[in-house]
Amino acid sequence: MKLFIDTANMEEIKEAHSWGILSGVTTNPSLVAKETVPFHDRLREITDLVSESVSAEVISLDAEGMIKEGRELAKIAPNITVKVPMTPDGLKAVAVFAKEGIKTNVTLIFSANQALLAARAGASYVSPFLGRLDDIGHNGLDLIETIASIFAIHGIETEIIAASIRHPQHITDAALRGAHIATVPFKVLNQMFNHPLTDKGIEAFLADWEKRQVK
Ligand code: E4P
Repeated sequence: MKLFIDTANMEEIKEAHSWGILSGVTTNPSLVAKETVPFHDRLREITDLVSESVSAEVISLDAEGMIKEGRELAKIAPNITVKVPMTPDGLKAVAVFAKEGIKTNVTLIFSANQALLAARAGASYVSPFLGRLDDIGHNGLDLIETIASIFAIHGIETEIIAASIRHPQHITDAALRGAHIATVPFKVLNQMFNHPLTDKGIEAFLADWEKRQVK
């Protein structure tokens, strides 16, 4: 399973990129709204650094508006993936983008049928939202597994991005349930490093080193 970072913050992207673990970036209007830099400028900064998929979401709700916005976004860099919401108009736009060779990420997926519709419209990626399903007492991980099984049985090449990740265990479980990618907030990427035995081990190695006989 590949790892994307779910943020529009340049410092976070730079730091995660420097770890060598990043395969892409996702943004959404809420994440972009936290930043002070204009959206297109920020996308230019991100795509200058990250050569793999960078998702940028459209704001329009009608297909015509989404297509216009998406084409503008796609002009910014060849690795822009246009993110569209899971609606009939969204899928109309996906079908047009697919014919034009523009990659798409269908967002706000909460059911297997929505994922199937998006894939059949030609989506490059679908983003089921684990955390938001868990929040309302559903099982986000079961949804990932169901979508992964359907795509495998029917030879569907659309990639599954486990989104709305809330904690490190979501990532391990999403990988086991067949997600191709997890898009992870910076805080949770950091949490993935943590293990008390690693800290303890480093401490012990350094303490032993200090006691060495040959100086
Ligand atoms: C996915 O692409 C979304 O940006 C994101 O994962 C949403 O997560 P949230 O539920 O924490 O807002």
